[in-house]
Amino acid sequence: MPDIESLLKEKRLFKPAREFTRAAHWNKKTVAEYRKLGQKNPTRFWEKMAREHVSWFAPWKKTLQWKPPFAKWFVGGKLNVSYNCLDRHLEGENAWRRNKAAIIWEGEPGDSRTLTYGELHREVCKFANVLKGLGVKKGDRVCLYMPMVPELAIAMLACTRIGAPHSIVFGGFSAEALRDRINDADAKVVITADGGYRRGQPFALKPAVDEACKGTPCVEHMVVVQRTGQDTAMDASRDHWWHDLMSEASADCKPARLDAEHPLFILYTSGTTGKPKGILHTTGGYLTHVTATAKAIFDLKDSDTYWCTADIGWITGHSYVVYGILANGATSFMYEGVPTHPGPDRFWDIIERWKISIFYTAPTAIRTFIRLGDEHPKKHDLSSLRLLGTVGEPINPEAWIWYHNVIGGKKCPIVDTWWQTETGGIMITPLPGAVDTTPGSATLAFPGVQAEILSEEGDVVAPPNGGFLAVTHPWPGMLRGIWGDPARFKEVYWSKWKNLYFPGDGAHKDKGGYFWIMGRVDDVMNISGHRIGTMEVESAIVSHPDVAESAVVGRPDELTGTAIVAFVTPRGGVDAGSQLAEKVRKQVTKEIGAIAKPKDIRFTNALPKTRSGKIMRRLLRDIAAGKEAAGDTSTLEDFSVLASLREADEN
Ligand code: PRX
Repeated sequence: MPDIESLLKEKRLFKPAREFTRAAHWNKKTVAEYRKLGQKNPTRFWEKMAREHVSWFAPWKKTLQWKPPFAKWFVGGKLNVSYNCLDRHLEGENAWRRNKAAIIWEGEPGDSRTLTYGELHREVCKFANVLKGLGVKKGDRVCLYMPMVPELAIAMLACTRIGAPHSIVFGGFSAEALRDRINDADAKVVITADGGYRRGQPFALKPAVDEACKGTPCVEHMVVVQRTGQDTAMDASRDHWWHDLMSEASADCKPARLDAEHPLFILYTSGTTGKPKGILHTTGGYLTHVTATAKAIFDLKDSDTYWCTADIGWITGHSYVVYGILANGATSFMYEGVPTHPGPDRFWDIIERWKISIFYTAPTAIRTFIRLGDEHPKKHDLSSLRLLGTVGEPINPEAWIWYHNVIGGKKCPIVDTWWQTETGGIMITPLPGAVDTTPGSATLAFPGVQAEILSEEGDVVAPPNGGFLAVTHPWPGMLRGIWGDPARFKEVYWSKWKNLYFPGDGAHKDKGGYFWIMGRVDDVMNISGHRIGTMEVESAIVSHPDVAESAVVGRPDELTGTAIVAFVTPRGGVDAGSQLAEKVRKQVTKEIGAIAKPKDIRFTNALPKTRSGKIMRRLLRDIAAGKEAAGDTSTLEDFSVLASLREADEN
């Protein structure tokens, strides 16, 4: 791990400002107490969080039942997520929140909508009744494939109200990818929109769903939100307009009394094989985890306007645009479009106009803004900001310092939060009123989370040496499995060491005990904070008839963190060149989506393989990064391959 050296030189330390600490929900004293409790007895710590942050219809009987690798939290407890995100803010001493903004939404063209807690509750109840009317029952899966519109949050909460697990598929995925996910989850209903707005143009979504649903026998109904008003074909036997169904729905819907371990949602994420994994999260533990972390890490107050820029189609959007934020009764800002429309200052304009106080985004976005130039944020009054956050990939110290100076005006703490789709909520993070931060480090495990740096054999690695990140005690937001594939669940996360969770990241601790996440150690790439499996891209490429073989690796990229490089061997008689490169990119867009399009394509007559026929990715990674293949090549079958690969042109 070559980066350790340079990161170790990072000595700048930023202490929380006294005023921030004084007003923070969690000050140094609280955090010290919680750390002590969390280290001694993590189960007790989370029990306390569950009591303080979540409303239960019935108490649990056992806090943690741990039969490795299967955990159950708050066993026997009954609750409802939509009740926690909505109803409880309309009752008793919180009743004043009825007319507080729950969601403030801005569309890319500049239109906006505000939904108060009272209004959101009403819409959610109505849509829950719509789902019931379509025959959706407790336990049935509902697939959501939507742009960033308020109806997406309404649909999620409506699913949770009746106990129908949702499976949200990011709107950037292709029809093929959507089809696989619908079928894997066996979804009965799909919710979508005619389209949305991006880069100043309307785009269509419904045609992709129509295409996907040519091969999804499980789908009985489709509900379509009218966002753009574009011409949209509707199949009368299957499709319904959202507004038609809503106009007749009753606003009276009691929240279902659900078991703490009732499935809440499935979210697909890439792994090391061609097939994405349906990560399963359940009700009580997940809600406890995201609600407590949101309150503590973002220091959420009733006076805040909080903006997380992630699309709800990713875990960050699930946990910290919707569930963790609304469960705290806070105001969540949502934006539909791209950061650069109509100009490169759209985000800063939004912050100024809406007086955003907490801003949570990805390092890739920050690096893009740096490149666009300081003049854009400098044109705007960003003084409403009081806290900044990052997520999704390691942040390079330069980007951290820029974020701190230019966006945060040197006064906002930055929380660099490490977590994953699988962890459900944030795991390693500063607490803004209590922890000194240093650029590039996610600092310490959240109280109640136990993490270590381990060797391949499972021994603790002494600081500052690098190793594998491990989570050594179950936590409430942990995934409960891979949908329909318990064997893969065991194999991927629990087979490296006995009963310890392996997240797939390399990391090291410094002498002060701070964690530094170094990135994935498996065949998963992190492109702009999004996970893409190398095998997934390879199988998309080889599905093109002109391709014989392909190997995909990541190489460092200044902007996106990692860029996708595809080595491609054409079939005999097919000309390699820019035309074929274009075809390959189109194929990947069709099979997965534009986010997985390779940046570089290099044609080669052969790929470096071991004598047993395994592709030597390590060599390819070195070649892609422009480094001399430094590692062990003693098992390489044919040395001439290396020379020809180095000479291959980029396409
Ligand atoms: O490699 C880590 C990286 O993103 C991976 C998880 O990706 P995903 O499930 O898509 O969730 C992203 C949003 C939570 C991790 O295995 N990662 C996430 N946050 C950080 C990070 N790497 C370094 N620093 C972070 N703060």
